[in-house]
Amino acid sequence: MLKNKSIVTIDDVSEEDLKELFSIADDMEKLLKEGKKVDIMQSKIMCTLFYEPSTRTRLSFESAMHRLGGSVITMADVKTSSVSKGETLADTIRMADSYSDMIVIRHPLEGAARLASRFTNKPIINAGDGSGQHPTQTIMDLYTIRKELGHLDGINVLMLGDLKYGRTVHSLILALSRFNARITLVSPESLRIPDYILKRVSNNNKIAVSDDLDSSLPEADVVYVTRIQRERFTDPNEYQALIGSYSIDSSSLEKMKKDAIIMHPLPRVDEISAEVDRDPRAAYFRQASNGVPVRMALISKVMGVM
Ligand code: NCD
Repeated sequence: MLKNKSIVTIDDVSEEDLKELFSIADDMEKLLKEGKKVDIMQSKIMCTLFYEPSTRTRLSFESAMHRLGGSVITMADVKTSSVSKGETLADTIRMADSYSDMIVIRHPLEGAARLASRFTNKPIINAGDGSGQHPTQTIMDLYTIRKELGHLDGINVLMLGDLKYGRTVHSLILALSRFNARITLVSPESLRIPDYILKRVSNNNKIAVSDDLDSSLPEADVVYVTRIQRERFTDPNEYQALIGSYSIDSSSLEKMKKDAIIMHPLPRVDEISAEVDRDPRAAYFRQASNGVPVRMALISKVMGVM
């Protein structure tokens, strides 16, 4: 039951919730395609507080709320807000609470969304907290896989890239392990998945850590690629040394199954070459557009109108 609930981690969303969200998102997508209005959120206001850059997450949340007939107020840039004058997170949340009905927050510090939820009774949606989690990205990732492959059960997922700092992979691994997935984790040595995530899924012996991308590609139903999270590095030299350490290109495509898909939460830097975009298996732009119907479904459930 998601009514009035904060979504801080993917643990806040049950299998039952996911099923319901997917079915509402399917309906929303159909209505959007038919150009029909979905005016169920009149008089409701969503506040988006972004302490870190964003394109897809903020715009798709805002687009979703507008499509539902609701309104949006936004702090898209901390430089133009009182945060730059030294206002605390607690006080900013108290203000957002009094101006809106739900709050979407992205913050560079892990745990910020959890902390924010202590200063309001309105639902807080975590749109990414540092290297923590990104639960709504995970909901749309699962939705994308289900739509592209037809199901979520027992699939073989290869996750490639910055598994240490990448918050999207942290929530996705936890979610996929509920669906009996076989997961292979491929990353540079210094960007391996944190132990606290691995421990949570370690009784699931279908998780493997590997250095060998080429031998893992032919098995995968989903190749989930992430960029190196440059903003998390304290030493720029360490980042420099990792640039170009992995990539998906046309030779990777040859090794992959014909009906596999390539996903990426985006933005991409250089880890998927542009030549891959033309291949029908490149699902990352379709994945990004699923953000609107999925977030429409989530907003409707959290606001208790569905
Ligand atoms: C991701 C994020 O912000 O964690 N982007 C997104 O929300 N689609 C991934 C990233 O920035 O690399």
